[in-house]
Amino acid sequence: MAEAAASGWPEPVVRVQALSESGAATIPERYVRPEAERPSSAAATVDTDGGVNIPVVDLSSPGSAATARAVAEACREWGFFQAVNHGVPQALLRRARGVWRGFFHQPMEVKQRYANSPATYEGYGSRLGVDKGARLDWGDYYFLHVRPPHLLSYDKWPYLPPDLRETTEEYSREVKGLCERLMAAMTTGLGVGEGRLQAAFGGEEGAGVCVRVNYYPRCPQPELTLGLSSHSDPGGMTVLLVDDRVKGLQVRRANAWVTVQPVCDAFIVNVGDQIQVLTNAVYRSVEHRVMVNAADERLSIALFYNPKSDLPVAPLPELVSPERPRLYMPMSFDEYRLYIRRNGPRGKSQVDRLAQINKDDKPAGGSDSPLAVASDLLRPSQPHRHHRKDVTDPDHPSAIHEPRRNTVVDKDPRPPHRLPRRRPRPVVPEPPPRYLRDPLVALFPF
Ligand code: OGA
Ligand code: NI
Repeated sequence: MAEAAASGWPEPVVRVQALSESGAATIPERYVRPEAERPSSAAATVDTDGGVNIPVVDLSSPGSAATARAVAEACREWGFFQAVNHGVPQALLRRARGVWRGFFHQPMEVKQRYANSPATYEGYGSRLGVDKGARLDWGDYYFLHVRPPHLLSYDKWPYLPPDLRETTEEYSREVKGLCERLMAAMTTGLGVGEGRLQAAFGGEEGAGVCVRVNYYPRCPQPELTLGLSSHSDPGGMTVLLVDDRVKGLQVRRANAWVTVQPVCDAFIVNVGDQIQVLTNAVYRSVEHRVMVNAADERLSIALFYNPKSDLPVAPLPELVSPERPRLYMPMSFDEYRLYIRRNGPRGKSQVDRLAQINKDDKPAGGSDSPLAVASDLLRPSQPHRHHRKDVTDPDHPSAIHEPRRNTVVDKDPRPPHRLPRRRPRPVVPEPPPRYLRDPLVALFPF
């Protein structure tokens, strides 16, 4: 236990890769999901053989009106799409996969030099969240910061294989450029002024970039576990490079999980919680999860493109109207992800909770400070309303209870939203919010 205490984790860290390589025929109890969350559970799984897949968007003319329409439709209807002709050279994608596969295949002693801790999450890790006794996912990862420059520290980056650093730098520079093109298309597709989303991220210079390489080893009982629990991405937007051979990502669609059939060398792009907030839930951050399998390991590289971490993020005023009241109060990404870090992935409960706080306690357009909202959100005793999106309010603005369909349509399927009620606030003095006492706010795994 001394080892666990020194590392900052609540218990000794077990590498999933080591479990996998031990050759055991069964997985430890901690990785076994409750029945309803297993990939094999009754919640229908729609395989791509049935013809349902996330939309594919061609980015060969990223500035065109047609591209903006296709991007916007995918962000509204699915929160996910595959980008083809995205402009990032194929050879670079191959090199990026190759160097990271090379890292995970180094001897354990080499990888352990980069063992991470929950203080910064940077480095080689095997869990998210610090709840003692929590159920764990069947995956290891490597997390690192690329931007802003003051968070980049090469000593946290592996030096083996030798071209890992250079390749990862080049890869993140190229994918950051793609994120900027995607943001422009998303903005045009929203019908708001040019540069509005990018400005809300703090401009091209202000936006944050971090990378998490996910490594899912082979699993002897894949039907009982998940490589990554159901979650929505807390940041702005995610650009994911998936394995070129092995599928595993599933996206929530109504009451089913759609297994993504990756197009070769495409990127999978998804909306994160911050863009859901900025667009007042016009674009949606949708739950997803990862299945593992017995035959093959799987590697994916997620690049998270985030708002400048101390800027308040709130719905753009032009997307707020009497018919569509503001759903969220301003909250910075630092405040938001501190909450996630403490709790680990929990479906969409975090962004839903944020809307619920506003719905119950805040006058629409009111002036409560973001810090007051954050302290509500972060109060440790606050029960989580939902763990899973399939149990959210049927009238919740970001719930996805529309019937499943094959093709996307233009109409907004969501029911009208109730106006927030005004409720007297208690006059009990509050202790300072925990995040104000936590010096590590800037450094999390998303
Ligand atoms: C993530 C994620 C999916 C995958 O890293 O947030 O959802 O396929 N990854 O690894
Ligand atoms: Ni994700």
